[in-house]
Amino acid sequence: MALKVGKVTAVYPGSFDPITNGHLDLITRGAILFDKLVVAVLRNTGKQPLFTADERVEMLRETVRDCLNVEVDSFDGLLVDYAARKGATVLLRGIRAISDYEYELQMALMNRRLRPEIETVFLMAGEAYSFLSSRLVKEVIALGGNISELVPPVVEARLKERLRGGR
Ligand code: PNS
Repeated sequence: MALKVGKVTAVYPGSFDPITNGHLDLITRGAILFDKLVVAVLRNTGKQPLFTADERVEMLRETVRDCLNVEVDSFDGLLVDYAARKGATVLLRGIRAISDYEYELQMALMNRRLRPEIETVFLMAGEAYSFLSSRLVKEVIALGGNISELVPPVVEARLKERLRGGR
């Protein structure tokens, strides 16, 4: 078996519509584990996103601007091909609850079949965020609930603007 030499780049892909503190927790921990972390926003998601890919990238960049080894980018097409172009050997994903597992397992196995040299690494979501999702955050703020402890300030402001006309 060959010994690993050199630096490890990981790609953390997702829709990030929008980024939550759960994503941020994973980014912070991933940035400690890997030499470089590329947070990659999926451009053409089948879901109807609230924010455009450029808006999602902008919010992410603002949120992680102090993390020196973190790059924010966007991608289209197959994730593993994008990761290979970035020189990454790891895909980073978070798991919140057992309900995430099946979908994540399917993706990890498909990605391994497509490019066996790229390994998927899972981190357990911080327990404070195990209930948190972008979808719920959008629902709660649209109905007037408080999400200030669940998303970065820039995201809260954008969500209020978009869903509540600034209120
Ligand atoms: O945040 P999400 O929506 O759970 O992220 C899903 C994502 C972006 C990781 C997944 O949809 C993806 O990788 N899309 C790119 C297309 C691709 O490679 N599909 C095959 C994956 S097995």
